[in-house]
Amino acid sequence: MPQSDNNRPGGDNTDDAVVSVSHVCQSYGKTEVLHDVSLTIRRGEIVALIGPSGSGKTTLVSSIMGMLAPQSGAVQVLGEHMPNRRLLGGIGYMAQNDALYTDLTALENLRFFGTVLSMSKQQLHAAIPQVAGVVGLAKDLHTKVGNFSGGMKRRLSLAIAMISNPPILILDEPTVGIDPELRRQIWTELRRLTGEGKTILLTTHVMEDAQQSDRLIMIRDGMNIAEGTPDAVVRQFSAPTLEDAFIAAGKGQDAHHSNR
Ligand SMILES: Nc1ncnc2c1ncn2[C@@H]1O[C@H](COP(=O)(O)OP(=O)(O)OP(=O)(O)O)[C@@H](O)[C@H]1O
Ligand SMILES: [Mg+2]
Repeated sequence: MPQSDNNRPGGDNTDDAVVSVSHVCQSYGKTEVLHDVSLTIRRGEIVALIGPSGSGKTTLVSSIMGMLAPQSGAVQVLGEHMPNRRLLGGIGYMAQNDALYTDLTALENLRFFGTVLSMSKQQLHAAIPQVAGVVGLAKDLHTKVGNFSGGMKRRLSLAIAMISNPPILILDEPTVGIDPELRRQIWTELRRLTGEGKTILLTTHVMEDAQQSDRLIMIRDGMNIAEGTPDAVVRQFSAPTLEDAFIAAGKGQDAHHSNR
């Protein structure tokens, strides 16, 4: 497990930085939703963004992907400023809302997205059974995605994010609707990937996911309010569990607002 001697929000240890977000602000219209967010994600680690609904996780992920240009501040991926179309092929991205072709089968979706990433027939032939197996969809490849359950669609989106074996995975709520057995299987795969030097950023509301990550970044009201290993975050809030730390962070934030 990568060790971090840098548990401060917005720390400046950029050795091995795969993703570097520095002083990013982001607004929708006049409403600012990210306020001066800084973070670094290093090669080979799994980092989870946690925070309440509406706190800005998806906005932050979209900014890292370059789908939103930062209003101020900067995002770099592998040392290059985002937005950068060329880098997108190296990032396996799973959006919070599944972007799938519901009239096509799972197999046809995987083939389509793999082809967009310039994968050859032979590469697809090897990769499709592998990623379908990881997400437990091997038997459902010939089913039309329109007939999939919500969890099956999430799993197909995850398989698509992994299809080209990219060095970076950015997964916005990858485990929604996924049962405990498959969740475990998916975590085994994520660990195997980081063992190969891949880097993973995910968002989650599931505390088991957060607990298994190397490092957490806690977002509240568009700010990076805490960062560190799951144990360090629990200690920071003097809480018995991560869930209690999450709730204590909310209370702290409410007190902060009422004092302003
Ligand atoms: N396209 C948009 N236009 C206007 N406001 C938006 C847009 N997308 C998000 N917001 C607002 O920005 C804030 C942050 O939203 P965001 O989707 O980043 O939160 P989140 O932490 O991902 O939430 P969740 O856990 O529910 O996915 C919210 O107040 C939301 O209403
Ligand atoms: Mg979101």
